[in-house]
Amino acid sequence: MTGRSNRPVDKLIVSGGVPLHGAIRTSGAKNAALPILAATLLADGPMTVGNLPHLHDITTTMELLGRMGADLLLDERMEIHANCSNIREFTAPHELVRTMRASILVLGPLLTRFGRATVSLPGGCAIGSRPVNLHIEGLVRMGAEVRLENGFIHATARRLVGTQLVMQQVTVTGTENLMMAATLADGTTVIENAAREPEIVDLANCLNTMGARIEGHGSGRIVIEGVETLSGARYAVQPDRIETATYLVAAAMTGGRIRVMDARPDQLRAVLDKLAETGVEVTAGPDWIGLDARGRSLSAVDVTTAPFPAFPTDMQAQFTALNSVAHGTGTIRETVFENRFMHAYELQRMGADIEVHGNFAVTRGVVRLTGAPVAATDLRASASLVLAGLVAEGETVVDEIHHVDRGYECIEEKLAQLGARIRRVPM
Ligand code: UD1
Repeated sequence: MTGRSNRPVDKLIVSGGVPLHGAIRTSGAKNAALPILAATLLADGPMTVGNLPHLHDITTTMELLGRMGADLLLDERMEIHANCSNIREFTAPHELVRTMRASILVLGPLLTRFGRATVSLPGGCAIGSRPVNLHIEGLVRMGAEVRLENGFIHATARRLVGTQLVMQQVTVTGTENLMMAATLADGTTVIENAAREPEIVDLANCLNTMGARIEGHGSGRIVIEGVETLSGARYAVQPDRIETATYLVAAAMTGGRIRVMDARPDQLRAVLDKLAETGVEVTAGPDWIGLDARGRSLSAVDVTTAPFPAFPTDMQAQFTALNSVAHGTGTIRETVFENRFMHAYELQRMGADIEVHGNFAVTRGVVRLTGAPVAATDLRASASLVLAGLVAEGETVVDEIHHVDRGYECIEEKLAQLGARIRRVPM
């Protein structure tokens, strides 16, 4: 599925100073596609999943499913035809979980359909410890036996039993894992304090198309009535709200004017409100969002990240970059993940004035950033460095861009389509 070189050693070279202009389309949502691909493990018949983004994490998920015995065919329209009737391997190995924590999403489906699952424990990562205790506790409450041994989660269950689960903390993949597990459980499962992210809704809609009986998705209380089997179905993944928003921030920072098609403004209210607060003009139709920043000066904004519908942690780094070139002082408070300000130190190397104090960062806007060689440690942090490069004086070389490639389909092509001077070079 790789039409071009995405080797980890590639770099992006960005020459700043061009206001973005034009229109682009949003790709399918990575964070919806990953659980939906995991959900194909639940289907008795063939599944077709469309509007998949062309990303490393999708390739990794296909490799994971393929190793378990799934028959997979990716067609030229980026639709995956998956047949999981012959699953014979129930393990998610360390080398795949290490590169993609979302591999944990196979735990619930494997356990509920086949009665067993072995998944490598995801360790710490660049943005914090990110434990999976709530996934495991929920499955145990549903009757699973779980052992943690040699770095693996070994889970077995004859048949999971529906129960009431009160999540101690809002967790996105935790809610998804338990919701998938509950679809084939005996009886009714209620997930209280469930995550309300749009990707949960997309997954639930897909599962319902397969014959599941889920209600309340999108609210904090999801009710799942277990069924005997789920069938194959055809489903198209929704557009990626974080990708849409990242390009809007790029247009704001460069003083440009763009329209993002295949967008979902209803899923981006908190972000669009913050963009409007910076002083740019935001317009929206049912499936597009426009942003006009021509001739306007940006004002810094205060942002606090929190679960949906509040401001998403996955847009925090991009707004830190925006604040660094806006007028005034902005405070960004990160409440979802610890240790998610690594980009601040790289932005400082480009001349940004950012002070990090624990879980908040205070930025005083500077007149200009200057290009520099930079590297990031996670996906959204890398994106923020690309955005900074778009406004910096001179050339910015963004290294370690395998992080960007995990979440942004053809970022340099989309930005170039909007007029940016950006190119990928294999090193
Ligand atoms: C998902 C998204 C990620 C996004 C995040 C928050 C996917 C593939 N990834 O990650 O892009 O940044 O939601 O919107 O959808 N926690 C526990 N125990 C658990 C599970 C989570 O303590 O068992 C904590 C985490 O450490 C974190 C918080 O809960 O502090 C939220 O994490 P969670 O919502 O689970 O993030 P992910 O699902 O991993």
